[in-house]
Amino acid sequence: MRRLIIDTDPGVDDAFAIALAARHPDVDLLGVTTVAGNIGIEHTTRNALNILSLCGRPDVPVAIGADKALCRPPRSDDAHGSDGLGGHAYNIGTSSASVDPRDAVTFMVDLLTASPEPVTIVPIGPLTNIALLLGAHPGIKPKIDRLVVMGGGIAGGNITPTAEFNVWVDPEAARRVLAMEDVPVTLVPLDVTMKCAVGDEWLSAVSSANAVGRELVAMTPHYREFYLQEMGRDEFIMHDAIAVAEAIRPGILKTTPLELDVDCTDGPGSGATFADRRNGLKPPTHRLVDVALDADTSALTGFVRDELTSRY
Ligand code: BDR
Ligand code: CA
Repeated sequence: MRRLIIDTDPGVDDAFAIALAARHPDVDLLGVTTVAGNIGIEHTTRNALNILSLCGRPDVPVAIGADKALCRPPRSDDAHGSDGLGGHAYNIGTSSASVDPRDAVTFMVDLLTASPEPVTIVPIGPLTNIALLLGAHPGIKPKIDRLVVMGGGIAGGNITPTAEFNVWVDPEAARRVLAMEDVPVTLVPLDVTMKCAVGDEWLSAVSSANAVGRELVAMTPHYREFYLQEMGRDEFIMHDAIAVAEAIRPGILKTTPLELDVDCTDGPGSGATFADRRNGLKPPTHRLVDVALDADTSALTGFVRDELTSRY
């Protein structure tokens, strides 16, 4: 059984990611923490509660995290619409569950401390909560099996030519987390998630399988339009679900150890994730991060589709 905490800013693709983990028989979803990102913290938290309820898991506790980046003004975009779920947030029902009274960092510390085995944390929003957790509680690191982070783009960005959204929202947090020693990190950047795009056939298989699939797919049109207009891609790109797939099935993505850094300036490269891919004869100056650059994309998208169609 894999013990997971998902740190999230739902978010259309976050909804698919939560649904992938929520009813998987090999996953013990210990909790969900929320962060501001795709939309403000009130919406990401309400959306997380409602998505879990939609998935039949209102029992999974949800704790509220950071409402802003560590040290910079808010940055946002409209990819997920004004409610964070492509205009569909008010159609998925309202959870009767309340948020956990603890803040996200205290909540994660308590879950990690109580767990008899190390826990995988899957951050699929800006890394603010995770930077705060590791900065304030370095002693908790041995309780973390691995961070499987959706973020970054080595070959280019989605929100700017150089930056990926989650890193762009809080570059200082990303820089700290990626530099942190003693915590294994697998980074799941755009380089692999953009390869795992799916089209109408995949979406209609998920939509027609069950009520959860129908609601998830109903969230996608606005988000898809954003990727069509911004990146010329008329597909559904489920970034966050790819990170959760790797957390559930370690090794489903092909990783390369790389030295990384993040541009924390306010220039044109702000929020960009850089990898040193030169021939590494010199000893590394940064810790190495396992960066997922490739995958068997048809096996991977088939895995996500089959899970969403069979577990609900
Ligand atoms: C990431 O940014 C958000 O828009 C998505 O939810 C995903 O986590 C992709 O760049
Ligand atoms: Ca997200």
